[in-house]
Amino acid sequence: AAVGVLAGCSMIPGLLDGGRVDTVGAVDFTTPLAIPPLAPSTVDADGTRVFELTAQSGSTEFHPGVTTATWGFNGSYLGPTLVAQRGEKVRVDIGNELAEPTSVHWHGMHLPAAMDGGPHQMIEPGDDWSPSWTIDQPAATLWYHPHPHGETEEHVRHGLAGLFYVQDSEEDALPLPHEYGVDDVPLIVQDAQFNSTGELKGTNKGFVGALGNEILVNGTAGPYLDVSTELVRLRLLNASTARTYSFRFSDDRGFDLVASDGGLLEQPAALEHLRLSPGERAEIVVRMLPGETTVLRSVKPDLGIDGDGGAQNGGADSFDVLELRAAAALESVASVPPTLTSIERLDPADAATTRELELDGYAINGESMDMGRIDQVVTLGDTEVWNVVNDMDRPHNFHIHDVQFQIASIDGSPPPPELGGWKDTIYLPPQRRFELVMRFEDYASAEHPFMHHCHLLWHEDLGMMGQFVVVKPGQHVTMTPGENADH
Ligand code: C2O
Ligand code: CU
Repeated sequence: AAVGVLAGCSMIPGLLDGGRVDTVGAVDFTTPLAIPPLAPSTVDADGTRVFELTAQSGSTEFHPGVTTATWGFNGSYLGPTLVAQRGEKVRVDIGNELAEPTSVHWHGMHLPAAMDGGPHQMIEPGDDWSPSWTIDQPAATLWYHPHPHGETEEHVRHGLAGLFYVQDSEEDALPLPHEYGVDDVPLIVQDAQFNSTGELKGTNKGFVGALGNEILVNGTAGPYLDVSTELVRLRLLNASTARTYSFRFSDDRGFDLVASDGGLLEQPAALEHLRLSPGERAEIVVRMLPGETTVLRSVKPDLGIDGDGGAQNGGADSFDVLELRAAAALESVASVPPTLTSIERLDPADAATTRELELDGYAINGESMDMGRIDQVVTLGDTEVWNVVNDMDRPHNFHIHDVQFQIASIDGSPPPPELGGWKDTIYLPPQRRFELVMRFEDYASAEHPFMHHCHLLWHEDLGMMGQFVVVKPGQHVTMTPGENADH
């Protein structure tokens, strides 16, 4: 990242070693927000759009004069933004120049299990892997990150993460801000903790995992963004390993949520704050007046936990994330349209199978992840309901590969508007029953499983993950199913 005004090491809030430091320090907004580069691509003779990603190690200067050993794709920290159109065939040629095996998972993407980049698709050091698939889902802000079993937290924390935008003609035609990095701005939000020599550490674990005491946005500490248009679209990705945010502006101005994990909402949701747990995305549109500034902050999130909703659970404090600085004259733009898209509502009554998933301890239905065990066998073409409950009085969240789902109900009531669209990851407050409805289409494989798991990455690494296969009707699973595989 570019560096701003000189700061002495003693002023760097992260330079505290030993003990847990969960509170994010005050921020001076001295550095322009870095924008991840758009990934170059070529188009093959058969029309396949081809990208290249190399996982590599390097060093990054988050603060002037302090270098930190980091990992990134095609660079030292984070990765480029991949952009592809619905209907396009894509291939990503991935090289691994790290000293250890990794993988690249396409979070939120609907694709064959063998291309999913989970723990069964490891790339050894010096090796490469070239998954390809046809994009067939609505425009959405997706992302990619490693998924090596037991090490996902470490790989993401060191910087291996990037965005993958799916575009389509319907979303393109809407009068929403569309200029990448100008009025349509990616915000990869992470918390980090540095030790006394400037290295990223992940040892200060609360219940949720390692919490940082500094916020990085697109790898920039203390970022500001110059705004030149009346409306700015912010694509938020919580790429933190453990921390849940509740985003809000310093002056409590409202904003429109226009898209969640899997794409556009039917109508914009007018909000003043938005909770985002690890792995979730949200696209918001905020209005600025000429010459003003406002600060995107996170306030103590409502984690739905009695008593200590605090540091242990990754939500104790309020802190600044990004300063928006409007120019003295702003380009005028159309308002956010009242209708964004239409979403086919999946009906829980159509479910061929209803499953109960209980998250307790670091296990799902009492089982810890076993790469040799299949936990659910799904029939291709089926609609299913998964009732997901967090049985603890602590935070968890939940992510399903392959599908985007709808929240049919929470404790029997309809979800709030911000949870009314396509989702692939949800925050799970304790003891609330989330009825998720989804349809498994297009891709069946008897031997390659998809994952579902808590996206608090340390929990995932500890085994809070299960595997399902999608098979054609009557097809037999060729991986050994576990005793609890419920057909
Ligand atoms: Cu973002 Cu299975 O992960
Ligand atoms: Cu968890």
